[in-house]
Amino acid sequence: MAAVVIASKNKNKVREIKQLLSGEALEVLSLEDFSGAPDVVEDGSTFADNALKKAKAIARFTGLTALADDSGLEVDYLKGQPGVYSARFAGISATDGENNAKLLKLMEGVPREQRTARFRCSIALVSRFGLIECIDGTCEGLILTEEKGTGGFGYDPLFLVPDLRLTFAELSDGDKNRISHRGKALRAALPVIQRWLDAGQI
Ligand code: IMP
Repeated sequence: MAAVVIASKNKNKVREIKQLLSGEALEVLSLEDFSGAPDVVEDGSTFADNALKKAKAIARFTGLTALADDSGLEVDYLKGQPGVYSARFAGISATDGENNAKLLKLMEGVPREQRTARFRCSIALVSRFGLIECIDGTCEGLILTEEKGTGGFGYDPLFLVPDLRLTFAELSDGDKNRISHRGKALRAALPVIQRWLDAGQI
């Protein structure tokens, strides 16, 4: 069977992406299936730059078609921060809890109407023969004043989806995927994957 490798060591992302690809005639691998995968330095200035860098490196390393996700949170009041620094907002090896605590501190006293934010995701696909595609997805929301919910990962407990009055951390993976930045980008990537499958590129 044709295979795609998810170029990520983030178990939460891998779980969400595997669920989104579960209907495809594809073997979906991740870096857990390979030892010695290179650690890619995410030093790009955009999500797309970083996603492309990861997908290229892992396609080269595995000889397979690679799919990489680079994603993060943009808070309007913080002029788009943490952005590409989302994973290391509170320091190089910061935990999700430390990143969330830093965000809450910076947003202390900010009124609700100025707490707008969005998650952004770039999905890069690099085929084993070198074809390249990059697709983006966004999801708009508000930053709460305290954490709510226990599911998901990262900034999920602080990210309110106004229409649902729920945070991402209060949604199942399936419900989050239906509306999330990652779900939107991945669904837009499916026709590309299908096209590459039909053309024997995967
Ligand atoms: P990356 O692995 O460099 O793409 O870092 C992504 C970081 O952005 C994660 O560590 C989270 O802090 C944040 N992030 C991205 N997507 C999500 C999401 O779906 N929920 C919560 N946080 C996310």
